[in-house]
Amino acid sequence: MPRLRVGLVGTGFIAGRHLAALTAMTDVAVVAVADAVAERAAVEADRIGARPYDDGIAMLASEDLDAVWFCVPPFAHGPLEAAALARHLPFFVEKPLSVDMVAAQSIADGVRNQGLRTAVGYHWRYLDVVEQARELLAEHPVQLLMGQWLDATPGAPWWSRRDRSGGQLVEQTTHLFDLARLLCGEVDRVHAAEAISPRGELPDADVATSSTVLLRFRSGALGSLSSSCLLGGRHQVGLQLITPGRAIELRERSLTDHELQVDGVPIARSGQDPIAAEDRAFVDALLDRGDDVRVPYDEALRTHALVCAADRAARTGLGESLDGGPSGAAGTTATREAQ
Ligand SMILES: NC(=O)c1ccc[n+]([C@@H]2O[C@H](COP(=O)([O-])OP(=O)(O)OC[C@H]3O[C@@H](n4cnc5c(N)ncnc54)[C@H](O)[C@@H]3O)[C@@H](O)[C@H]2O)c1
Repeated sequence: MPRLRVGLVGTGFIAGRHLAALTAMTDVAVVAVADAVAERAAVEADRIGARPYDDGIAMLASEDLDAVWFCVPPFAHGPLEAAALARHLPFFVEKPLSVDMVAAQSIADGVRNQGLRTAVGYHWRYLDVVEQARELLAEHPVQLLMGQWLDATPGAPWWSRRDRSGGQLVEQTTHLFDLARLLCGEVDRVHAAEAISPRGELPDADVATSSTVLLRFRSGALGSLSSSCLLGGRHQVGLQLITPGRAIELRERSLTDHELQVDGVPIARSGQDPIAAEDRAFVDALLDRGDDVRVPYDEALRTHALVCAADRAARTGLGESLDGGPSGAAGTTATREAQ
């Protein structure tokens, strides 16, 4: 059986999930791992029998790979993808694409010019409950969407700095923006506001601690997404979707249809590993055995452009309109308007 030779860059939390999935596949060989912290790469390489590197670009230059997985924090995007593009090397990249649109747009242009195969880690799209929600909503178009990402501040040292993570909308709530696009279509206008509380325990933090974004979809539907990182743990992450006569509630592990169950008993629960599913889909595509990559780079760029517009609107207080943009990727450019 042919084995796909894979390298992985960034051996932190989410890399552990991808490595668990990839090393369990009999048609994949993870041959090299890299991390800016050499010891982390060495420990992980030793554990799975791969070669360690303290520099992802050096790894790409030294190894003969069929694909690479980038699992680095938001601020680290740009040079790694450029190195993959220079080698015409297909890549999987974790969300978000970058802290802003600059690096992401330039990578997207390279990917499009080469027709390079890519996949992005918007793993909710591989959940069976999301598929079921889509089926339900095909016959009951959404008129109102409400979403919440109410959580703790993640412990990663880069997370609470805007120039490192992009902030909560860009780093976390992006999953809900992506689902909003999937379930309700493209957005043509955003308004937003944010609040920042001083954090005694995190004196350098500059990310918003709470925010609310108002979305107007091209369909005429309305949405709001509220985020907070002020809590001691995860309180609520998910969407409520209002259609004529029914309210559908979607969380990562459950789907509830409140027309059928007024008391809110879920109609479906998920026991899946969507990260293993997205990895399997990309491997199958690269081995020409499947065609189920649900979020290639250009599709992720549309979500990222929407989130970046919402983030700008939250900071400036100016509304943003999204349009088709010069690249032809709908929704990847935005213009500001007075509120
Ligand atoms: N899909 C999801 O649900 C999900 C969940 C968690 C994290 N993520 C995303 O994955 C990315 C990583 O998150 P994490 O929680 O694993 O972070 P982490 O801090 O646990 O790990 C990141 C690793 O990357 C390394 N690194 C940083 N810059 C590097 C560079 N230039 N080259 C090589 N290595 C570098 C760090 O040393 C660290 O070991 C983030 O973008 C995050 O948003 C996605």
